[in-house]
Amino acid sequence: MVELVPSILSADFARLADEIAAAERGGGSVIHVDVMDGHFVPNITVGPPIVQSLRRHTKLPLDCHLMIENPDEFIPAFADAGANWVSVHYEACRHLHRTLQFIAHHGMQPAVVVNPHTEVDLLIPVLGMVHHVLVMSVNPGFGGQQFIPYSLNKIRRLKELRRELGLSYRIEVDGGVAHDTVASIVEAGAELLVAGNAVFGEGHAERDARSLLEAAQRAARIAAA
Ligand code: DX5
Ligand code: ZN
Repeated sequence: MVELVPSILSADFARLADEIAAAERGGGSVIHVDVMDGHFVPNITVGPPIVQSLRRHTKLPLDCHLMIENPDEFIPAFADAGANWVSVHYEACRHLHRTLQFIAHHGMQPAVVVNPHTEVDLLIPVLGMVHHVLVMSVNPGFGGQQFIPYSLNKIRRLKELRRELGLSYRIEVDGGVAHDTVASIVEAGAELLVAGNAVFGEGHAERDARSLLEAAQRAARIAAA
């Protein structure tokens, strides 16, 4: 099943509760929170206090994408704040297997993210531990960038690996998901569609979430036929 995962990065940060409520009315079913530290990526955003505030305003799962160095140091704080899903970058974790165990140990769903230059076959040893794999389809750090087409090969490969290995992780994609790219993304096999600019960019989150989700669902029906 395809799900729309609105990314608050492009929302009005002074009106977050209203923005996520609008995205939810438009069909968003998971909220994506981009956590950036100014070291792993060239931007700084939000951390556990914002997650804690969001937690009071939505029942939807909070999907925290950690673009930070030393994620282990912050995992307990995200758990206390009410995060549900936590994804860490392959490129940021020296002991990825241990970090994924640590996330699960804190009662959250662990996930791994790959930057555009990282092949997904490198993840084979940990695929059995993750709730989902997040394919970055732009270089992380900013919203509103263009989708990198090679990402489609990675989504297809993850789908193939899931079948070959008999696993059940979900496939998430993040970056440049918009009206002109969503059909090929869904056709390749992505199920969790993160979208920032396409949902919040014009200040009409309900309307724009709905139309993007409808486009994704149309593509899913065609792919299944
Ligand atoms: C980028 C973030 C994304 C971002 C996607 O580093 O990880 O979640 O919000 O933005 P769009 O959908 O605008 O490409
Ligand atoms: Zn993200």
